[in-house]
Amino acid sequence: MRLPGLIAALLVIAAGQAQAADAAKGEAVFKRCMACHTIADGAPARVGPNLHGVIGRTAGTAPGYTYSKAMAASGLTWTPETLDSYLTAPRNVVPGTKMSFPGVPNAAQRADLIAYLQSQSE
Ligand code: HEC
Repeated sequence: MRLPGLIAALLVIAAGQAQAADAAKGEAVFKRCMACHTIADGAPARVGPNLHGVIGRTAGTAPGYTYSKAMAASGLTWTPETLDSYLTAPRNVVPGTKMSFPGVPNAAQRADLIAYLQSQSE
């Protein structure tokens, strides 16, 4: 019966990929966001809200920023999981969002990006 060994091997591979998320690489991916977002603590909003501390934040609640009704009413909390879906296809997850960005299609780049967002949320 070789199945348990195979499953164990797949789990090890999956864990290795999860650990491979790299905040330094994510900082480079974040350049795509910087036209519209700041991330330093206390930096002003641009076209989009400041993203410092976004992990753990309720969507649509950065002080002093006017969100779309869609984002304010989304009921989302930003976790690595919700960010991963949102950043894949923002308008599928929050229809009516005013974030005019198509998304980051590459899963590994998204994982790095989210690791970077996490590093700016501690
Ligand atoms: C063209 C401008 C633009 C780009 C590029 C952009 N965003 Fe946004 N983003 C916005 C706007 C505008 C909003 C507010 C959306 C709303 O209110 O519907 C937003 C909202 C968000 C939110 C929700 C924040 C909150 O406080 O609820 C997250 C998270 C986010 N963006 C992440 C990113 C990331 C990560 C990138 C880069 C991969 C990115 N955005 C690229 C304009 C942009």
